[in-house]
Amino acid sequence: MAEMTPEQLRLLRDVFQNACGFVLREDLKFIAERRLAPRLEALGLRDFGTYQRYLRFDPRAKEELEIAIDLLLPRETYFFREPAQLTTYVDEVIPRLAQDAVGRSLHVWSAGCSSGEEPYTLSMLMGDHPLLQGWDMDILGTDLSQKALSMARHAEYGPSALRSTTPEQRAKFFDSAEQGRVKVKREFKERVRFGWLNLLDGGGARLLPSMDVIFCRNVLIYFDTETRRRVVQLFSERLREGGYLMLGHSENLFSLTTRFELVQLSGDLVYRKPRTG
Ligand SMILES: C[S@@+](CC[C@H](N)C(=O)[O-])C[C@H]1O[C@@H](n2cnc3c(N)ncnc32)[C@H](O)[C@@H]1O
Repeated sequence: MAEMTPEQLRLLRDVFQNACGFVLREDLKFIAERRLAPRLEALGLRDFGTYQRYLRFDPRAKEELEIAIDLLLPRETYFFREPAQLTTYVDEVIPRLAQDAVGRSLHVWSAGCSSGEEPYTLSMLMGDHPLLQGWDMDILGTDLSQKALSMARHAEYGPSALRSTTPEQRAKFFDSAEQGRVKVKREFKERVRFGWLNLLDGGGARLLPSMDVIFCRNVLIYFDTETRRRVVQLFSERLREGGYLMLGHSENLFSLTTRFELVQLSGDLVYRKPRTG
């Protein structure tokens, strides 16, 4: 298998960082070599130096970059991930949102939704919430990976996606499919839409409606500080005043921005866009 020299690693890091923010760290070198080696073979390229030039200058660079990103970026996700935060969302954030929403409608964005487990979890929790019965809920999942989005639209999952669900949740929210797999029930599927969006592309995101809540969990950890700052700024533009930003438990906004206030709820700390009026 071809090895990456430090210089090739640096050049490839630039390519991926510019394309999607992902930082190809030194400790990921071996994983990158293993995952990208089949691409060198498929394209008949001799080493990673030629591969990085292909990704920059070849007429088919755009298509290849999409393939490489799909191979490289972590897409790990599952239903009802980070349950303590979800309990806070249900018990404390939703009642606040329900109180000050304009009309009986909510817009929720799952940014970096991978194969859909996160937005479907939100649909299940919100569809089941006593305060939101009869409400119009628009849940949008976006990601950079076409492969992940096609799995999300299909809405069929195996045991690993269900690892954090209870038997009650499995019975309530899923129908059985073939070979021990499950399918998200129609009523929880139909209020979730999916779209391709690169979080580095501010122009694309500015076409989205104003959001009441943005979930962006386990995505910013893969970016450098400057990219995080840029993406968080975008979130602040897309959130309505008083709207909430929910990050993964290992992520925070320290030294990134002053555009959000940290709110201590009884179950968790969450970020909110302050009201100006
Ligand atoms: C580890 S998964 C997290 C999934 C889910 N949010 C969760 O916490 O379970 C990270 C996802 O972010 C997506 N991602 C990474 N960089 C992105 C970018 N620049 N724009 C959009 N999505 C991105 C990846 O494709 C991947 O599906």
